[in-house]
Amino acid sequence: MPELSENFKKNLTGFLENYQNFHTLRLHMPGHKGKSLIRSLAGAYAWDITEIHGADSLFEANGILKSAQQETARIYQTGATFWSAGGSTLCIQAMLAQMKAEHRTILAARTVHRAFLNSCVLLDLPVTWIFPRSGSLIGGYYDLSDFEKALQQTSQPACIYVTSPDYLGNLQDIAGLSRICRKYHARLIVDNAHGAHSAFLRENQHPIANGADFCCDSAHKTLPALTGGAFLHVRNSEDAGKIQSHMQMFGSTSPSYLIMQSLESCTDWLAGQGREAIRQCEEFAEQFKNQLSEKYELIGTDPMHLTIRVNGLEFSRILRENYQIECEYADKTCLVLLLSPMLTQQDFARLSAVLLDFCPSGEFIPAQNPPELSRFAEIVCDLRTAALSDWEMIAPEQAEGRICAAVQVPCPPAVPIVLSGERITKETIAFMRFYDLDRIAVMKNIETNHQKF
Ligand SMILES: Cc1ncc(COP(=O)(O)O)c(C=O)c1O
Repeated sequence: MPELSENFKKNLTGFLENYQNFHTLRLHMPGHKGKSLIRSLAGAYAWDITEIHGADSLFEANGILKSAQQETARIYQTGATFWSAGGSTLCIQAMLAQMKAEHRTILAARTVHRAFLNSCVLLDLPVTWIFPRSGSLIGGYYDLSDFEKALQQTSQPACIYVTSPDYLGNLQDIAGLSRICRKYHARLIVDNAHGAHSAFLRENQHPIANGADFCCDSAHKTLPALTGGAFLHVRNSEDAGKIQSHMQMFGSTSPSYLIMQSLESCTDWLAGQGREAIRQCEEFAEQFKNQLSEKYELIGTDPMHLTIRVNGLEFSRILRENYQIECEYADKTCLVLLLSPMLTQQDFARLSAVLLDFCPSGEFIPAQNPPELSRFAEIVCDLRTAALSDWEMIAPEQAEGRICAAVQVPCPPAVPIVLSGERITKETIAFMRFYDLDRIAVMKNIETNHQKF
């Protein structure tokens, strides 16, 4: 008999190692039986299992997955943490389902990802929008007093929903928002998809440490986890009760064990050398941004986002074609480079040399300003009715006066320009063209579509 490893039953990786050592005949899903058809993934298939005896079950976790998630909660210092193999998208669905169950009205900062909007459609949640005072729809800064005013005008129990960091790396005042939420007995949800690293910075900047009730972190965005791996954090363990059942409502019954294994190893890494690696990356980013600021205008304060105010389309082409550097996101207003503690000193040296010594400075590839977009769109019908209506795709120029159906903005950055149910104006069309969007879904027939689902 093969020897049991020390980790057997204690963690997922140990369980999987033992499972392979026993050369078990796999008469269970998945159908690949541990064998890969693709050479490049030869090692991976053997680790890809399903909810077999001893492997626990993510949404009813009571064994190795329960203790592993408790370990993630411990290092993030949360009341409870749940793993997602469906990205932050699944976490957002579950957090909003919780708000629905608590009969709360949603007050959301407008720079949301489309995952938020789609969840509101699925759950039939109306939204009151708060607009940024500066910046753009993709990333901007809000005034706390706007949230407070919105809470004062709401008679129902409420929930504030903000994205921080946003796609450009702007951080909102989560501690300030949480104080306001306590004052009005409102919940605070933070989309921290871009900030999984924030608990391990020199100063803990994680939304839960700053008083948020719930938040989601896409571990895969800035930490060493496989794509799709995310955490849903709950500040108060008493609020954790129903979250797993909400995740189960939206998640696949076959969450990927490869992704879960990567979340476990990411957790172990954070408990060990990861913290130091994140701090080193933070330090480098600070120094580097100081040097870069003499040559470029930088946006945002999150250390992992290096956002430069230039014509990003042109800049990203130079980086790709001349230096084999691929960026996270680029448009005519900016370029986003996403850093990570997994970058080596050599990687940083290469990036420094390219940006500081070779690339043209900001004034040679200036950013363009997007056209004005009014914050007061005419709302013709509710989000859900519009998003689930019979729709057609047309060119923006043909859409003036029509009603936006399902939001189909590309990701990245997936921040909707016009919302489902809003009337499309000349301004919207100019804005869409500026961002090179050439199709929009509009409701086919407002009369026949107007019944509520
Ligand atoms: C701000 C924001 N929230 C949520 C999401 C969805 O995250 P995931 O891809 O992990 O589902 C994204 C994805 O890019 C995002 O940028």
